[in-house]
Amino acid sequence: MQPQADRDALSEAERLRRQLHEHNYRYYALDDPQITDAEYDSLLRRLQELEQQFPQLRTADSPTQRVGVAPLAEFETVHHQVPMLSLDNAFSDDEVLAFDRRIHDRLNIQDDIAYVCEPKLDGVAVSLLYKDGVLVQGATRGDGSAGENITANVRTIRSIPLRLQTEKPPAQFEVRGEIYLPRAGFERINAEARERGEKTFVNPRNAAAGSLRQLDSSITASRPLSLFAYGTGLVDGWALPDSHRQMLDQLRQWGLPVNPLIEVAEGVSGCIAYYQRLVSRRDGLGYDIDGIVYKVNNLALQQRLGFVSRAPRWAIARKFPAQEASTRLLDVEFQVGRTGAVTPVARLEPVFVGGVTVSNATLHNRDEIGRLGARIGDTVIIRRAGDVIPQVVSVVLRERPEDAREIQFPRQCPVCGSPVEQVAGEVVMRCSGGLVCAAQRKQAIRHFASRKAMDIDGLGDKLIEQLVDQGLIESVADIYRLQLEPLAALERMAQKSAQNLLDAIKKSRQTTLPRFLYALGVREVGEATARALASHFGSLENLRAATEMQLQEVGDVGPVVAHFVREFFDNEASQKVVAELQAAGIHWPDMEPASAADQPLAGQTWVLTGTLESLSRTEAKEKLLKLGAKVAGTVSAKTDCVVAGPGAGSKLTKAESLGVRVVDEQAFLAMLRDNGLS
Ligand code: IVH
Repeated sequence: MQPQADRDALSEAERLRRQLHEHNYRYYALDDPQITDAEYDSLLRRLQELEQQFPQLRTADSPTQRVGVAPLAEFETVHHQVPMLSLDNAFSDDEVLAFDRRIHDRLNIQDDIAYVCEPKLDGVAVSLLYKDGVLVQGATRGDGSAGENITANVRTIRSIPLRLQTEKPPAQFEVRGEIYLPRAGFERINAEARERGEKTFVNPRNAAAGSLRQLDSSITASRPLSLFAYGTGLVDGWALPDSHRQMLDQLRQWGLPVNPLIEVAEGVSGCIAYYQRLVSRRDGLGYDIDGIVYKVNNLALQQRLGFVSRAPRWAIARKFPAQEASTRLLDVEFQVGRTGAVTPVARLEPVFVGGVTVSNATLHNRDEIGRLGARIGDTVIIRRAGDVIPQVVSVVLRERPEDAREIQFPRQCPVCGSPVEQVAGEVVMRCSGGLVCAAQRKQAIRHFASRKAMDIDGLGDKLIEQLVDQGLIESVADIYRLQLEPLAALERMAQKSAQNLLDAIKKSRQTTLPRFLYALGVREVGEATARALASHFGSLENLRAATEMQLQEVGDVGPVVAHFVREFFDNEASQKVVAELQAAGIHWPDMEPASAADQPLAGQTWVLTGTLESLSRTEAKEKLLKLGAKVAGTVSAKTDCVVAGPGAGSKLTKAESLGVRVVDEQAFLAMLRDNGLS
């Protein structure tokens, strides 16, 4: 190798590494990416090429290490120079008050104490050692004094900086934090495992622990793990600041992710208020938390308080209600959905979990029942977290009663008796009855009438049940043939409510093309796809005439969706229903292909948060979409504007911290009026 080529490669590798660190920092610590994922990947690939060609260029902090390295035979043991402690728990406000009182007594202080309130992440505790700013070791907590060396696995986690963002790093710096798996990542990993017929993880914490315990770090690299840092261990060559909050701010500046919901509360009453706020937001967070950790903010006071056995006196974990509980599986019923999917539903002895009483949980599909090995009568563990419906996650085999019964998956649809079939390549079993099946019909009608579809006020589940069971409605088109007298004669109905319903039905005749398309319930055509199809084709006629190839010209429409759309419009029964609906007077204005003048917000991303008084979220969203804006669910540096109503929470805080424009309802309405929408 030529010395010059050698030097060129070296300086190119160094430059690439610097760029990749910087982009990683912008992405994870600042939430302000400046290049696309594809551009990042191409820089990374170039560095990989160079390192492959010149292996001597490979360094411990190279971003290429994130893809994983050769599998280990076993993990080495790491002794923690500063032990990794645990926390005492509090289960009520009273126990938190007692904690605060103990601290006042011990310190002999009368004034309010400032506490840092931190979400208690439900993941795996880790210790990360940086020497001269470079990540050299990652270790699990183990028993607190010694854990396992998981350096190769930790390096694969993109939000963990491989090098601290500072010119003057401490000689040695140990960061303590929690590695966790966001709920979406957990659902994805489990869905993939289900597809492959493999065992699923019980909860995100187990999945995170399982992913970190891999001897093959390329497996860890494939799991979307993340980290929140919350403390330090060994520190050498850096003077600790005065407060825990300042220490967290320093960690963030060095590129370590710190939870954005962390707040300082003055006095214990602030701690209790923080608990209430977080409990109500728990379900909406993208990750599991099992409580809140309160820590005395002042580090000198922490020092004075010290430790008892393995826990600090200056901190306590206020636990939330558990998200998992055991109960008995009383029976399994099979529900038929709109597309005929037959879903096994567990009937349970009611149990309090995740803050509510649960008596039903999903068992997903036939394969899942097989994998769990559940029988009726078993004690099962159920989990309810976030917005996800409760699920049966495991069976307590040692508690199986003698008379536990096997679960039989039906061969015939429990509602219409048609054969239940498995479509090649799918795990779900489907009733083959189509709209002959009353269950599928009811679901189709429910979907048609729903708020985001035809929005027929008053046509709820109970009424749909009666209408279908009594033969008053067979298809959605029959809704528009309903008469006053038979309606008024139904259970829980009277002249007035029947008339109100007829008025709502009449009103729904005037709609929009996106709503109508969505209401038809074409498989895989959700609200966004319906909107994209409508604005691309402008009219139902154009859409109906489109080939699968033409359909795929619409953004977001791939071969699967194109196929379902074509199949729907080629199906005689669907053609008949659409014709009947149009004959019943359903109409909408055709859409002009969108022009720049109508779309003053084109290219902008808006976020709605809190409650708006004069219009619903859906209405506000529709208006923004009409003006060309994209409406996102989360705030990032790319957000152009946040509309914040009363009750706005973390999205507002985040917008403020990122300097994103925030408007209130009045300003939002004024903007709509200026653009001809009211
Ligand atoms: S502080 C000396 N802060 O909870 C204090 N721990 O029960 C040590 N955890 O093993 C811990 N979020 O895995 C602290 N914000 C947070 C935390 C947190 C989660 C976990 C951690 C620890 C366990 C203690």
